[in-house]
Amino acid sequence: MRTYLVTGGAGFIGSNYIHYMFRKYGSSIRIINVDALTYAGNLENLKDIEDQDNYTFIKADITDADAIRKIFADNDIDRVVHFAAESHVDRSIKDPEIFVKTNVLGTAVMLNCARAAWEMPDGSFQEGRKFLHVSTDEVYGSLEEDGGYFYETTPYAPHSPYSASKASSDFLVKAYIDTYHFPANITNCSNNYGPYQFPEKLIPLIINNALHGRKLPVYGDGKNVRDWLYVDDHAKGIDMVMEQGRLGETYNIGGHNEKQNIEIVHIIIDTLLEMLPENDDRGKLVSKDLITYVEDRKGHDRRYAIAPDKIRAEIGWEPETMFKEGIRKTIAWFFEHEDWMENVTSGDYQKYYEEMYANK
Ligand code: NAD
Ligand code: DAU
Repeated sequence: MRTYLVTGGAGFIGSNYIHYMFRKYGSSIRIINVDALTYAGNLENLKDIEDQDNYTFIKADITDADAIRKIFADNDIDRVVHFAAESHVDRSIKDPEIFVKTNVLGTAVMLNCARAAWEMPDGSFQEGRKFLHVSTDEVYGSLEEDGGYFYETTPYAPHSPYSASKASSDFLVKAYIDTYHFPANITNCSNNYGPYQFPEKLIPLIINNALHGRKLPVYGDGKNVRDWLYVDDHAKGIDMVMEQGRLGETYNIGGHNEKQNIEIVHIIIDTLLEMLPENDDRGKLVSKDLITYVEDRKGHDRRYAIAPDKIRAEIGWEPETMFKEGIRKTIAWFFEHEDWMENVTSGDYQKYYEEMYANK
């Protein structure tokens, strides 16, 4: 049975990835989820699988080398999928240091511990081991409005403390590949959306505010472009790169779905109005009048757009969920999980660990 060590599995993409992997592989894999449960980590995201024999949660900080070393010593880890990070650009502008600590030092600790566990006396690595570093398209900087794409060969040009810290972590992985022939891949993905996304990010924030009749804050002129991918398509891409990616290679993941922020806000409002039942009072609150232009994000990147040519050609990855369908699935999920949003916005989700794990 293959054992995966997933870092940051209680966050948005990590929890969707764990669900995806159990749907796909069932009891033929084991997953150990290591997460520090920062404000972004929510064990309620994994409630339905927490009692499975082939799933283990360990509360640990990836910057704590002793804790991570112990996890490798206690378990025969075949694969590492490294999601854990501080992930929100606005927070990085307010408080950059924690981004450097978690994203750079944390990645260095993960790499060191995996290398120590997997390297053989002759400097080669045990067969079948692999480290997949989950990164972002933001490391490539910003594109012109009227053209161009991010390729794997695009020079790094990060602007925010978040993207600079992710770029640094990518360079550490590349250094391990070049120096030790460490068995790793890097994936650089575009903006994700879907279930369990923390409502500080654009799409869940707009859905939640609109349903409560609160202002919908649009930064600057609202014409910044992001390239949106449904989170399951990212999970599928990570799994395919893990299985088929050539060692040492980087793969960009994105589905050619560029939209201006203001378009996203309009699509969400239209879709909410279409999907809310006629007798639902929230329909009276959802309105385009809520759109409010606010001060721009500092250093706001204008446009991101991924060229997924390499992952398509080499690995055969294609996105399955088009935006129109993905946004409906996401909104339907939020309709069905009002309690999740309520727990997150009230802070109650942070009590879950205490209640569920205090005696475990
Ligand atoms: P998230 O903020 O929702 O989740 C991050 C998780 O990491 C949380 O569960 C948190 O508790 C955990 N974590 C934070 N610091 C930790 C530490 N020191 N030790 C252990 N765990 C810690 O983030 P996300 O949106 O799910 O992103 C996951 C990864 O994917 C990140 O590396 C991010 O850079 C990358 N990524 C995100 C997107 C996106 O659109 N969200 C796109 C491309 C790449
Ligand atoms: O591109 C991948 C990246 O996408 C990931 O690496 C990051 O972890 C993830 O957070 C995301 O970064 P963005 O900064 O693009 O996502 P965010 O949802 O914060 O913002 C999307 C766009 O919407 C951006 O141009 C800023 C704008 N925005 C955001 C918020 C929260 C608004 O206009 N209003 C808002 O309230």
